[in-house]
Amino acid sequence: MLPTPYIKCDYDKVYEPSEDSFLLLDSLEKDLEYLAQKFKNKLALVCEIGPGSGIITTFMIQNHIPTTNNNSVYYAFDINPWALEATLDTVKLNRAKDNDNNNAGSKSSLLEPVQVDLTSSWRSNQIDLLVFNPPYVPSETIPTRPERKEELDTWVDLALEGGKDGMEITNRVLAQLDTILTPNGIAYILFCARNKPEEIIKSMKENGYSNWNIELVKNRKAGWEVLSVYRFSRC
Ligand SMILES: C[S@@+](CC[C@H](N)C(=O)[O-])C[C@H]1O[C@@H](n2cnc3c(N)ncnc32)[C@H](O)[C@@H]1O
Repeated sequence: MLPTPYIKCDYDKVYEPSEDSFLLLDSLEKDLEYLAQKFKNKLALVCEIGPGSGIITTFMIQNHIPTTNNNSVYYAFDINPWALEATLDTVKLNRAKDNDNNNAGSKSSLLEPVQVDLTSSWRSNQIDLLVFNPPYVPSETIPTRPERKEELDTWVDLALEGGKDGMEITNRVLAQLDTILTPNGIAYILFCARNKPEEIIKSMKENGYSNWNIELVKNRKAGWEVLSVYRFSRC
């Protein structure tokens, strides 16, 4: 089992890694070989939307996911400015630990944090690997993006609240998958049961995504919630 990155963050400012974060780590670990085959000898452009503390981006950098070499460039896109700082700090902390332990780890990978709403600033069909643990909790509304960095509660609410069925943010990403990913690209996206992922996938298949493989990678009961990670790629 691959080690979980060290995290030291202020959870008044960013989302604290939880069962959902760990399920995504386990899903990526399960698919290590699959990803390595798919991106063998290629330079991969990796993007995590909503890195929060940086746990998943750091894990991918440390383990050279998706390639087995150092041939990836990592982007971290978060609407929360604190999350971008936290992600840089987490990568730095784990680099220092890797150096202390003489592990190759994350030494030379490139990481670019960008404060952005989802992938709105991205050119079409550029991302090879997309990872997203979205705000998936059903809520009446999505909080409005704060004017000021100091409005901590709202930034943290933005990490959780997903509007109707918890799907308003995730739906925006799903609708763009075809234009976000490279032809060979893959996305890992987390859902909770209240998002009704089976219905979402059926509807995607009937509406323009019939030539996509959409597969459950891992699911797990977390308290009273059931979480699932699905993998999206073109057939
Ligand atoms: C559930 S947290 C996941 C954090 C981290 N990836 C993890 O797994 O622990 C969701 C993240 O998405 C970010 N987020 C929410 N809405 C966003 C948007 N419209 N654009 C970019 N990031 C967004 C939040 O700020 C938060 O960092």
